[in-house]
Amino acid sequence: MKARILEAGEGLGEAVRLLASGNVVGLPTETVYGLAGDAFNPDAVARIFEAKLRPLSDPLIVHLPKADWLERVASFDSLAQRRLVEKLAAAFWPGPLTLLLPKRADLPDLVTAGSSHVAVRVTSNAYFQEVLTRLDSPIAAPSANRFGSISPTSAEDVRLELGEAIELILDGGACFHGVESTIVGIRAEEMSILRPGPITRDQLNEYGHVSSSSENVNSPGSLPGHYAPKKELHIIDTDISSTSMGAFLAFCQPRQGFVALEILSPRGDLREAAANLYGALRRLDRSPAVKIYAEPVPEEGIGVAIMDRLRRASCGSKNGIGHLPAGNAF
Ligand code: TXA
Ligand code: MG
Repeated sequence: MKARILEAGEGLGEAVRLLASGNVVGLPTETVYGLAGDAFNPDAVARIFEAKLRPLSDPLIVHLPKADWLERVASFDSLAQRRLVEKLAAAFWPGPLTLLLPKRADLPDLVTAGSSHVAVRVTSNAYFQEVLTRLDSPIAAPSANRFGSISPTSAEDVRLELGEAIELILDGGACFHGVESTIVGIRAEEMSILRPGPITRDQLNEYGHVSSSSENVNSPGSLPGHYAPKKELHIIDTDISSTSMGAFLAFCQPRQGFVALEILSPRGDLREAAANLYGALRRLDRSPAVKIYAEPVPEEGIGVAIMDRLRRASCGSKNGIGHLPAGNAF
């Protein structure tokens, strides 16, 4: 099977038909492309895991077109939790925020990998919203990559990852944010960030207390080793100038003497850097270099999410050395 890519507007009807008959489809979101299946059809959900080669122990995010649909998949532990969710939904939905809430019993257990909690979000992508409305069912959609690999931020990247396993990808252009949604666990009036993303800690802090540890809630996919290129990736904290074997992932300044170079944002803008991150990593992965050296970005705002993904990538790549000591020869 070789997936067809259709312009999102043109392919909408066909995407809905495929989803309604239990198939899976690649869809654009404002964060990264997702691999969509009807959340209430266990066969479709099983196909998502199969296409991604994802372990059944790793739960999927459920997408809704609007907050009104929340009660189709989730419930609340307390009035305080409900109030906080309403505030967060009003502030950040549609948008790149995923909330972990008690799951409704009739949502298939496969979606949440047996967990009593479901991760939900309302995407701002107009095509995805239209597909949801026409299908009239919540959609389970993880990032549209093979398990552990780099999330796709274009339709072509989805084809490179899953082209042999799926039939159709809707092309909605490049993803606006470029890194996955912020995942937030909610206990009464307290929030904990399970995965940093485009909605930052400071933004959440305006709506309640954000605890600094996520010990209490387990997010299986938040393990080191996710989002990894095939090549070894090292985050360098020293000033290296060149290497005959290396590719360099720079934040804003060019570096001389590398086999390949990607600059995430020449003007030093973290939002732009996030949007370019995964595409740049893919290009460096395809370059003749044997290793990738990544420069740290300032760990503020969405920079927290960028550094989170780079650290996981450095653990997931071949030997996971991570930070190089000063003066290291390579
Ligand atoms: O931006 C995004 O969130 C993208 C787009 C496509 O919506 N989706 C995405 O999904 O990144 P995925 O599956 O690649 O990452 C979701 C993460 C995984 O680490 C998973 O383990 C965690 O969320 N997760 C999902 N449901 C969960 C649950 N019920 N309990 C704990 N963790 C959950
Ligand atoms: Mg993923």
